[in-house]
Amino acid sequence: MRKAGPSLRAAGIVVAVDGPAGAGKSSVCRAVADHLGLLYVDTGAMYRAVAYALRGRRQLLGQDGRLADALAALRVDLQRPRGGGPLRVKLNGRDVTREVRAPEIGELASLVSRHVLVRKRLVALQRSLAYHPGIIMEGRDIGSVVFPDADVKVYLTASVRERARRRAEDLALQGRRVPLPVIEREIRRRDRRDRSRKVSPLRVASGAIRLDTSRMTEAQVVEALGRLVRKRLKARSDLLQ
Ligand code: DC
Repeated sequence: MRKAGPSLRAAGIVVAVDGPAGAGKSSVCRAVADHLGLLYVDTGAMYRAVAYALRGRRQLLGQDGRLADALAALRVDLQRPRGGGPLRVKLNGRDVTREVRAPEIGELASLVSRHVLVRKRLVALQRSLAYHPGIIMEGRDIGSVVFPDADVKVYLTASVRERARRRAEDLALQGRRVPLPVIEREIRRRDRRDRSRKVSPLRVASGAIRLDTSRMTEAQVVEALGRLVRKRLKARSDLLQ
C-alpha cells in the first residue's frame, strides 16, 4: 500500500530524483521541468546555502540549542530568474548562487547535512514546495524521506570514473584544471559519507527506477526521464476521465 504523504502532495505530480554527486541530476531535471512546466527544486543547493551560512561556525553542529536558533534565523529561497536559466540561491535575501558552488562549500554541505536539525528544517521547506502544477525535486533522500509517495521516483547514477570526467569538464569550463584522480578521490569520499550517515542516507528508494547514465548522453537521459513523467501524467489524466 502507498504510504500517506504530506497533504499538499495531492495538489500536483511529484517527481523525485535521487543519486550521488555528479550523476547529472541538476541539468537533466532542469531540462525535464522546463519541457513539462514543472517547478524544479535543487535540494543540494539548500544544503549548500545552510553550509555557507554556517561556515566559520562549525562548532554549532555540536550545540543543538544554538544550532536550532541559528537555523531559525535563516531564510533559504530558490528563485528562477524571469528569463530562465539556473536557479538563484538566496540566503536571507542575499544572492549566494556563486558562493555556494565552491567545492569547499559542497564538502561542508555533506557534513552539515548529517545533522538531524538541519535535515528537519530543510525537509519541511521542501515539502512546502509541493504545489500545482507539480514539481521535480532532486537530492539524496527525496524518494525515500521527503516524498516517499512520489508519483515518479528515479535513482540516477553513473560510474565514479564517468562522474569525475563530467565534473572535470565542468571545472574546465570555469577555467579550473583539476587532475581526474583528485576528483575521483573526492567523489568516492563524498559517496561514502552520503551513503553511510545515520540520518537519511543516500540509497535507492523503494519503488525507484534505477537509471545508470554512464553510457548515455544528457539528451538521452532527459528523454528517458521525460518519458517516465509523461507516462505517469497520462495515467493520472486517464484516471480523471
Ligand atoms: O547535490 P549537491 O552536491 O549540491 O549536494 C551537496 C551535499 O548536500 C551532498 O553531499 C549531500 C547533501 N544533500 C543531502 O544530504 N540531501 C539532499 N536531499 C541533497 C543534498
